[in-house]
Amino acid sequence: MFNIAIDGPAGAGKSSIAKAVSKELGIIYVDTGALYRAVGLNALRKNIDTKDVTLVTESLKDVSVDLRFVDGEQRVFLGEEDVSVDIRLPEASMAASNVSAIPSVRQFLFDLQRKIANENNCLMDGRDIGTVVLPNAQLKVFLTASPEARAKRRYDELIAKGQDVEYKDVLDDLNKRDYQDTHREIAPLKPADDSVIVDTTEMSFNEVKEKLISLAKERMN
Ligand code: DC
Repeated sequence: MFNIAIDGPAGAGKSSIAKAVSKELGIIYVDTGALYRAVGLNALRKNIDTKDVTLVTESLKDVSVDLRFVDGEQRVFLGEEDVSVDIRLPEASMAASNVSAIPSVRQFLFDLQRKIANENNCLMDGRDIGTVVLPNAQLKVFLTASPEARAKRRYDELIAKGQDVEYKDVLDDLNKRDYQDTHREIAPLKPADDSVIVDTTEMSFNEVKEKLISLAKERMN
């Protein structure tokens, strides 16, 4: 199978770039952050402290998380419920970052990610795809940008969706998540040794897209 791994901090533009690139290449796009969000949402709904290792681990016992692809679009399921919309709420972001530092959660989601990549030509994005989940991916990209540029993009996105947010809160939230994601003991966010680092601060969407498509095409031949 042909696998592309894209990792990088929150707001680097991973998901919009990944969607466009995978569409152009005719492979599926797997957003692994959605899996951590689903586990975080499940804990929030049960009123569990999302940093409590024991309670979060217990919460995994009676839950299933799954990805289904409908017309090429990824949908995320918690049991039989499609939670694709609810996992995008701001409180689900921090919950996801919290639960993602818990080893049992990473283990719980690992096999599912591996299985999808073994069975499909896919582009998978996350934080540890190139380093842990798909160390043999044919192409690994680390997509990054300055915190301010990332916060601005996230802010514009939320405003466009009609949400009432302040730029400063978005930036604070992003810095806090970056810190947590890069400093956790298990599978911290960092570029794989053999990844191509793409800093998108000064690049347009199309420039990033074309760069990734040309890197992918080189590796496909
Ligand atoms: O990409 P995202 O913002 O939807 O991810 C939500 C959180 O999940 C993020 O703060 C870190 C975590 N995550 C992770 O630890 N490993 C992944 N492969 C993907 C996401």
